[in-house]
Amino acid sequence: MPHYCTLIPGDGIGPEVAEATVRAVEATGADICWRRAELNEAIILEAGKTLPQYLLDSLNETKVGLKGPVTTPVASGFQSVNVALRKALDLFANVRPVRTLPGIKNRFEDVRIDMVIFRENTEDLYSGLEHEIVKDVVTSLKVITRTASIRIARYAFEFARRNNRKKVVAIHKANIMKLADGLFLRCCREVASEYPAIEYKELIVDNASMQLVIRPETFDILLLPNLYGDIVSDLAAGLVGGLGIVPGANMGETHAVFEAVHGSAPDIAGQGKANPTALMLSAAMMLTHLGENDAAHKLQSAVEAVYREGKHLTGDVGGDSSTADFTDAVLRALKAS
Ligand code: NAI
Repeated sequence: MPHYCTLIPGDGIGPEVAEATVRAVEATGADICWRRAELNEAIILEAGKTLPQYLLDSLNETKVGLKGPVTTPVASGFQSVNVALRKALDLFANVRPVRTLPGIKNRFEDVRIDMVIFRENTEDLYSGLEHEIVKDVVTSLKVITRTASIRIARYAFEFARRNNRKKVVAIHKANIMKLADGLFLRCCREVASEYPAIEYKELIVDNASMQLVIRPETFDILLLPNLYGDIVSDLAAGLVGGLGIVPGANMGETHAVFEAVHGSAPDIAGQGKANPTALMLSAAMMLTHLGENDAAHKLQSAVEAVYREGKHLTGDVGGDSSTADFTDAVLRALKAS
């Protein structure tokens, strides 16, 4: 019985990295039946809404999606596709593993970075509640609830327990946003008290940003509300070589959508330069979620083997190979495994 998965190639570099990833997933031998659902800027503009019904129908049927980036139309009134999708399917946990890949040149050559970021995905300043109260005065509401904070904290601690992780750090600005971030922190502390074997710490977001740059190897699990999680994820991606290599997952109680951290990269779209690593590693997370652990391990190991060899890397990570060359190298590594 195959696993049915919704494939959303997206736009910009999305279709290029999605095609590369589908080839790699097929080469693992996992039995995946893709249900392709197109979504791009033109479709959104024509439909006049961010999420067409066929996309939600497909994800409601398959419960699992692999998604490329989608350009958010600049025209006012359109919500970001990702924000809309996360809310529509209640994908409350954004999970981003940030790891050093072998052979990648970054500022921390002798340091191994291995952290997992858990970002609350449904509220905070992404609630979209903005008002112009009088002309030229705008407020944007930051919403933090106990339900959502407890849920993301428990998700992070459960991950830590199951994966033998040692330390969770909650990141906040409760010294300024005493009520909102104060509530988030109280929820994190409450959940932490249920996991005495896991060390729990707190860092203010500005200090955390500096510590991440100076001592990235000391971070293990990071637990953040939505906005800090968004910013810190990109910062962390920069520590290990950039957006082209960091995967992600949006997890809910019933649905899961796997996608890279990066956007549609219009500056390199259609040029065969995009790095498909981030989406391939997102697909490896998807395979684990589907219980296809061997296939997930094979795909992860094949990507790492190509980085270790260092001969077929794309421009963003210091190589001069195309998307297709990199993908062929991953397929060869998969064949050899
Ligand atoms: P971006 O992530 O698309 O690009 C930032 C920089 O990183 C660019 O220089 C780009 O060339 C490079 N880059 C990104 N991914 C790469 C890859 N796989 N290989 C090589 N280089 C890569 O961010 P930007 O420019 O802020 O956003 C462009 C569009 O993407 C916007 O419309 C934005 O709304 C959308 N977006 C969509 C996301 C999604 O659907 N998940 C996430 C973030 C942005």
